Amino acid sequence: MQVPLLDLKAQYATIKNEVLAAVSEVLQSQRCIGGPKVAELEEKIAALSDCKFAVGTSSGTDAILNSLMSLNIGSDDEVITTPFTFFATVGCIARTGAKPVFVDIDPKTYNINPELIEQVITKKTKAIMPVHLFGQMADMDPIMEIANKYNLAVIEDAAQSITSTYKGRKAGSIGTAGCFSFFPSKNLGAAGDGGMVVTSDERLYNRLKIMRNHGANPKYYHKFVGGNFRLDSIQAAVLLVKLSHLNDWSEARRCNAAFYSEKFSGTVVKTPRINSVCLSIYNQYVVRVPKRDQLVAYLKEKSIGCEIYYPQPMHLQECFRNLSYKQGDFPEVEKAAKEVLAIPIYPELTDQMKDYVAETIISFLN
Ligand SMILES: Cc1ncc(COP(=O)(O)O)c(C=O)c1O
Repeated sequence: MQVPLLDLKAQYATIKNEVLAAVSEVLQSQRCIGGPKVAELEEKIAALSDCKFAVGTSSGTDAILNSLMSLNIGSDDEVITTPFTFFATVGCIARTGAKPVFVDIDPKTYNINPELIEQVITKKTKAIMPVHLFGQMADMDPIMEIANKYNLAVIEDAAQSITSTYKGRKAGSIGTAGCFSFFPSKNLGAAGDGGMVVTSDERLYNRLKIMRNHGANPKYYHKFVGGNFRLDSIQAAVLLVKLSHLNDWSEARRCNAAFYSEKFSGTVVKTPRINSVCLSIYNQYVVRVPKRDQLVAYLKEKSIGCEIYYPQPMHLQECFRNLSYKQGDFPEVEKAAKEVLAIPIYPELTDQMKDYVAETIISFLN
């Protein structure tokens, strides 16, 4: 048996006709940038996220970059975030000229540890960027308390967590802005790159819209130096089709997670720990295991897909050497990077496939 980490062809087979019809409609109209599909998607994602506004962007990365730029964050500013994330979180902070400032994670959830934030705040701190990793939101109440105390913006990197909740509140709706990615492997994935910023701050919304179009308002008159952060209409059309399946897909992922958690109980495999006030969308199912690297090789031999998110923490990346962090600075992150492993969790997995994955892992570790 073969079990890939993700099987987008299996998903496509269930929605092919709807997707082709939606793409064809855009091609017929030749409204390829912006237009009604993007506007409809923005309205629906804003409503789904309990936010007043949404701005489609060319990727999740550009959602983050646009948010930072629209909040006027740049050189001489500092943004606090986690070193245990995908590069884009930190890359965007650095690209604005601001300094990324890291704090360690909570080892149970892999999300930023709010207890460590206050001690790194300086006069230059402008924002906190929690990352809702693997589908689970960060502990937002203490983060917002600190942000309010020091008058800081909060940009939620919700690239992996669209529709996940914290105390019943949606990802993206608690901070100043929330950023989603529609990279194909996300729970809501486009047929290419795409992203979105959600916010309930009208002034920020207006800036985000102008910024994504080279800062122009009106056309050819540039208020700020922005970028081309626009979302393609074909991507919006595909996403509108997929949106109607999102809750079912996330539910199927939760069922798969429950299956694994039961299978692995009583073994050395440490399963994901979901905060009791959170609902995860399980964009990834990440276990911690001994002999992780040997297990990766074994799973490959057995045709089971897996991935290490993330093998090299951000504070140890070559391109961030100028930040002067060193090995040992964030022990929980460094430990997690050595132990974590994402295994297949996608909605179309059959019981047989899940059983094969779980049994293969258990037999290797016994
Ligand atoms: C945590 C996180 N932030 C940001 C991004 C960037 O999104 P994109 O790949 O759509 O640019 C991703 C996507 O992989 C991500 O996982």
